[in-house]
Amino acid sequence: MPDLDKKVAIITGAASGIGLACAQRFAAEGAVVVGVDRHSTEPWQAFASATPDTRFHQLDVTDGKAQQAVAAETAREFGRIDILVTAAGIGDGGPVGMLEEDAWDRVIDINLKGTFFSIKSVLDTMVAQRSGSIITIASVEGINGTEGGSAYNASKGGVVLLTKNVAIDYGRIGIRCNTICPGFIDTPLLHEVMEAMPDFKVDVQRETKMGRLGRPQEIAGAAYFLASDDASFVTGHTLVVDGGYTAGHSHGIVELMGLT
Ligand SMILES: NC(=O)c1ccc[n+]([C@@H]2O[C@H](COP(=O)([O-])OP(=O)(O)OC[C@H]3O[C@@H](n4cnc5c(N)ncnc54)[C@H](O)[C@@H]3O)[C@@H](O)[C@H]2O)c1
Repeated sequence: MPDLDKKVAIITGAASGIGLACAQRFAAEGAVVVGVDRHSTEPWQAFASATPDTRFHQLDVTDGKAQQAVAAETAREFGRIDILVTAAGIGDGGPVGMLEEDAWDRVIDINLKGTFFSIKSVLDTMVAQRSGSIITIASVEGINGTEGGSAYNASKGGVVLLTKNVAIDYGRIGIRCNTICPGFIDTPLLHEVMEAMPDFKVDVQRETKMGRLGRPQEIAGAAYFLASDDASFVTGHTLVVDGGYTAGHSHGIVELMGLT
């Protein structure tokens, strides 16, 4: 029997990249997937049409009431909510002195406040059933600073600590909450950055000790572990999945030794 058989999972940002890969993996493991995104996409539609019991809600995660309504409808229809993955997010920023207030607000509203609304929306149901696994998607940029990161760094750092807080507050009633910090993953979000900065990909691959970008499926694999019973004693954890990006610095010694 698949490990997530009949488990009910809400996934935000499900129409693209990491959220879509989580939706595909969770469905393959037997879960009922409820996707949330501000856009539907062709890859999502292809997935949903081939996957029975899938639902989709078009909304903006900054709309707390809309997220509450989705959680209430999901609980009404399926009787429970077992898993939440918060993958909706955007990249943006710039040095603080050059960053306009509305750009700051947009990043914090979507990445941090949107995550707060997503978590808040499922808690009543998870508390009533005394179980649940919440998986937030932060970033390596939420544990280490990055050049020009400002609002994005702050939003993802906030997600890391919000996750720990939920783990602390709700652990005794059986709800686990963990965050994944992806490194640089080959998704439309990263493509936008790479298009704007042609040298970015080469630089990131040099800094990533495995020498390549990550695949969205590699984040979905980590999310699957955290959602599964194999992670039954894992909570408040920050799981870095970054091909070694944050392991430390390189200074050309392995190249000198021929280890490439
Ligand atoms: N790709 C990377 O390198 C990388 C690295 C670290 C963290 N992340 C994080 O992973 C998450 C997923 O990113 P991705 O790379 O898959 O990007 P993506 O752009 O492929 O997917 C993000 C999805 O979120 C949706 N979304 C954005 N804002 C929304 C909103 N306000 N309301 C509802 N939906 C919204 C988009 O429509 C999109 O479908 C993001 O939180 C991102 O910050 C990505």
